Amino acid sequence: MFDVLIKNANLPDGLEGIDIAIKGGKIAEVAPGIEAEAGEVIDAGGRLVTPPFVDPHFHMDATLSLGLPRMNVSGTLLEGIALWGELRPTLAREALIERALRYCDLAVAQGLLAIRSHVDTSDPKLVTAEALIEVREKVAPYIDLQLVAFPQDGYYRAEGGVDALNRALDMGLDIVGGIPHFERTMADGAASVSALCRIAADRGMPVDMHCDETDDPMSRHIETLAAETVRFGLQGRVAGSHLTSMHSMDNYYVSKLIPLMAEAEINVIPNPLINIMLQGRHDTYPKRRGMTRVRELMEAGLNVSFGHDCVMDPWYSMGSGDMLEVGHMAIHVAQMAGIEDKRKIFDALTVNSAKTMGLEGYGIAKGCNADLVILQARDPQEALRLKANRLAVMRRGRVIARAAPRISELHLEGRPVMVDAAAYAPLRPGTH
Ligand code: FE2
Repeated sequence: MFDVLIKNANLPDGLEGIDIAIKGGKIAEVAPGIEAEAGEVIDAGGRLVTPPFVDPHFHMDATLSLGLPRMNVSGTLLEGIALWGELRPTLAREALIERALRYCDLAVAQGLLAIRSHVDTSDPKLVTAEALIEVREKVAPYIDLQLVAFPQDGYYRAEGGVDALNRALDMGLDIVGGIPHFERTMADGAASVSALCRIAADRGMPVDMHCDETDDPMSRHIETLAAETVRFGLQGRVAGSHLTSMHSMDNYYVSKLIPLMAEAEINVIPNPLINIMLQGRHDTYPKRRGMTRVRELMEAGLNVSFGHDCVMDPWYSMGSGDMLEVGHMAIHVAQMAGIEDKRKIFDALTVNSAKTMGLEGYGIAKGCNADLVILQARDPQEALRLKANRLAVMRRGRVIARAAPRISELHLEGRPVMVDAAAYAPLRPGTH
């Protein structure tokens, strides 16, 4: 007797007509035609069932703060950082927690059940760290939340930056962050990469740096990050977030760089929505796209996963916690529109980002956690095209969010009565 039996699911790898049996919060069996008793039977009806979406790069301390204390007029990264610097000293712990929890509600509704958030450690009071640690505990039953100690104003550039980051790690943040391109000089940036990798090695922690988030092709901190990763034996535990300067780098240099990154097993985290919005701001025309070289990095065997980065904060006035929106933008910016391309993009929102975060028990296989999302789409390509509705979101075998199918009723002579956005054929044969 199973707790739940999901019938007739399509899986992201293309298998169709699959049943998924769940017992004790885990997946007990995955096979076609499972005939067994179950407490609850859910008919997926040939729709896509996927492990949950995973966001490997977010800023939960800033989210939903749009307009506080004013809007970002130029729309640039640097005005965003300045604006955040104005807001930060006024932040109250309770308000931070309230906004973060509100975002987590949105995330759950979208089937987003694991998030790696950067936490700004620039203010020595570390209210942000205190608040997010509390949020991490509160949401643990339904979201895996990892916290990165992130020196937004620079590890060396900000007064007290070194001390504050280390104290934040002592408080219980999980990952060592950095922002080498924002330090005063290239040399300071490289030195910060070395110092932060040493801290990670000493503490046995992963590293996730905002690295080279600039259009400057000479911003080459990713080279140092790859080298220091190997030197400290941190292979596979280091992420380079953004890496937008690679978009503008000389091709010959990149042909040397990518193998070095592969050797270091760097996890690459582009943030398509934010990169297309914030990069290229000093260009007239033609205007650069500013996203790193996704296709080439994937082809070289690097683990690429996409982050949402921002939702309604000083840097980005848009966003909704929908990782399919992130993937939708990635398809356009990377020009990866083939069927196989889209499958890879879907993986970059799910299995690849789970790998980046080191999640255990992730996936649809016997023994994995019964964390699943049923989408109003038949396959990953359609899910990305439609930014498909999440019909059910399940955590450890329990449905924690449900949505009605998106169906429109038509009032047209001689045309179908109902239209399901995810169906090419009308839902009902009848016409008016
Ligand atoms: Fe970021």
